Amino acid sequence: MSYPPTGKARTIVITGGSNGIGHGCAAAILRSLDGPWHVVVTSRDADRAQEAVSRLAGAASAANRVEAMSLDLASLASVRTFTAELTGRLTSGGLPPLYAAVCNAGQQPGTTVSKTADGFESTFGVNHLGHFLLVKELLPVLKAPARVVVVASGVHDPAEHPSMPGPAWNSVPALARGELGPAAASDLPFAFGQRRYATSKLANVYFTYALARRLPAGVTANAYDPGIVVGTNLQRNHAAPVRFAAKHVLPRAKPLLRRFVTKKVYTIEVSGGSLAWLATAPELADTTGKYFHQREAIPSSEESYDTARADELWNDSVELTARSTSTAST
Ligand SMILES: NC(=O)c1ccc[n+]([C@@H]2O[C@H](COP(=O)([O-])OP(=O)(O)OC[C@H]3O[C@@H](n4cnc5c(N)ncnc54)[C@H](OP(=O)(O)O)[C@@H]3O)[C@@H](O)[C@H]2O)c1
Repeated sequence: MSYPPTGKARTIVITGGSNGIGHGCAAAILRSLDGPWHVVVTSRDADRAQEAVSRLAGAASAANRVEAMSLDLASLASVRTFTAELTGRLTSGGLPPLYAAVCNAGQQPGTTVSKTADGFESTFGVNHLGHFLLVKELLPVLKAPARVVVVASGVHDPAEHPSMPGPAWNSVPALARGELGPAAASDLPFAFGQRRYATSKLANVYFTYALARRLPAGVTANAYDPGIVVGTNLQRNHAAPVRFAAKHVLPRAKPLLRRFVTKKVYTIEVSGGSLAWLATAPELADTTGKYFHQREAIPSSEESYDTARADELWNDSVELTARSTSTAST
């Protein structure tokens, strides 16, 4: 694989580019003529990764390249293996300089509580702690101009989604154990799962703001709300009827959703395209510490501007990820 020496090729890493919004983001970047871009998508599964790369390569512009690497955010050892390999290739010149890390992968829990390989509650562990460690390990190779984009969600904001269980913040070690704050006290299992998800998405926003305050000039961090995106696999951990409705009913009910629930309903192409824009648009070179819905910077929840909490999350995440117990398997 070679790039024109004057072509200023750059690498973009997208966690979870095998499906959904991350896949849409990768497709949009690979179609673009602003590169050359070297896009690394990640997956936990070799077959899904290969299929994604074949689909993406088929639609890529001639100068762009795509490959997949293995990453399981539910294992801090896997995160370390991934970042060590990526860093080695970047520093040896085997990959063009890192331009963007898109923290997109995520999971929504069903009604049961599961743990990561390191013993953290999975929603918090995958959606926050895994990405926290990934970005922290990549900081030495995130040199200006570069950016981090964190995919959060409007569900972190109860004012935005009043009918859904909102976040129930707690101390960070408690959240890592799966213990939410008092708002979750009387939740039934479904609501408790949704609340864990909303809380992890609030953690994504705190993380972005704390990161933006720590990055050197020319390296930016912004959070992203893709809206409600139909046709993704986010409901994979839910019971069969919920999965069925998400896959077959919601995409057809988009106009109804727009009319009666929220106007913020989008396709994978639209939300993935806006995520690609956040990761690459030259006009965003100096924009940092913002929260975007699609391509518009908007305020995040009132609660999300609690700087002391964001710093506490940062410091506790440093400690929790340092104490990881998983062993490398990827
Ligand atoms: N869909 C929506 O309406 C919506 C709304 C707001 C925010 N979001 C956010 O958007 C992001 C993408 O979601 P999506 O809707 O596109 O879901 P999706 O279709 O399920 O895609 C999720 C991606 O994350 C990867 N992934 C899942 N668990 C992982 C783990 N433990 N380690 C590494 N990768 C993992 C999956 O890859 P493999 O399974 O191949 O490993 C997949 O590529 C998430 O952060 C989600 O919270 C989605």
